[in-house]
Amino acid sequence: MNKKIKQIKRELGSSLLILAHHYQSDEIVQYADEVGDSLILAQAAAKNRQSKYIIFCGVHFMAETADILTTPEQLVYMPDVNAGCPMADMADLPQTEKAWKKLIDLFDDTIMPITYINSKAEIKSFCGEHGGTCVTSSNAKRVVSYGFEKKERILFLPDQNLGRNTAYSLGIPLEKMALYNPLKEEIEFDGKPEDIKIILWKGYCHAHHNILPETVKKVRSENKDIKIIVHPECTHETLELSDMNGSTQYIINAIKSSEPGTKWAIGTEKNLVERLKNTYTDKKIILLDEISQCKDMNLTNEKSLLSTLDDILNGKSERIVNVDEKIRENAKKALETMLKL
Ligand code: 13P
Ligand code: SF4
Repeated sequence: MNKKIKQIKRELGSSLLILAHHYQSDEIVQYADEVGDSLILAQAAAKNRQSKYIIFCGVHFMAETADILTTPEQLVYMPDVNAGCPMADMADLPQTEKAWKKLIDLFDDTIMPITYINSKAEIKSFCGEHGGTCVTSSNAKRVVSYGFEKKERILFLPDQNLGRNTAYSLGIPLEKMALYNPLKEEIEFDGKPEDIKIILWKGYCHAHHNILPETVKKVRSENKDIKIIVHPECTHETLELSDMNGSTQYIINAIKSSEPGTKWAIGTEKNLVERLKNTYTDKKIILLDEISQCKDMNLTNEKSLLSTLDDILNGKSERIVNVDEKIRENAKKALETMLKL
């Protein structure tokens, strides 16, 4: 498989671009033209105009984003079209429209919808249509500040943790944050509605949300002088007990620039932590919690990558991700606002 993949890659030359998220396994990362966090990969797709074929090794919302940001002539493929994101699936359009109606009734025109890039294209489109935008974990502070410059409050979808952690880092107290429960269709908040600054959609990423504060305390007590670094998709309590937090690219940069001999426990997807452990052997690196494994990120493998390359050579379309025309325009608007910021 290795020989065949390399040979087809050579044959296709610059007409092929392989993008891989940091959470992909080494088996895939070795073939990528660009490996990055969600922001870097969105920027890479937006910038590339020469590759007719783009293979996105990641999950569905990432391939959708690439499709939205490329030209109609460029084709975006996913090696395994079943690789979704359980968190992105926690918000759909009918739920969002219902929530929006409730919020407009309460707050009139004082609210901006902002969605994490880890969301369905229809949610990005909703945000674009209603004057909102997207964020990634590496630009969330910048984009949420922009939201507060324009409006009094924000609806943040679908990750409550990134929304809460970002708003908190901008000085919004927890008492001014409400939760929106899409299953019960209700706003969960104890105080007066006019005090609400941000409404957090009640979604989460299981690979981060389930890293408990007790685990952070345990790892710290068992490892003298260890630094704990986590992704902002972790809960606020876990973040507060950690030393540093940031996107996957931020975590990589922090480890890379740290002193030899330093000890790190990393709270993010296992594939990335294993790669850092094998790359920076002069540092002692451990996975903070074994719970941090994303089944969907692990669906892509050499076999499905090779099948995708065969699809390209044989003109097959089953693995092509094509965002519906009706939602593309507004989703692009939301993404472009973010990229400009
Ligand atoms: P980033 O790559 O933006 O840090 O996002 C992490 C993630 O969960 C992707 O699915
Ligand atoms: Fe979704 Fe979490 Fe997996 Fe990322 S790691 S794709 S946010 S479930």
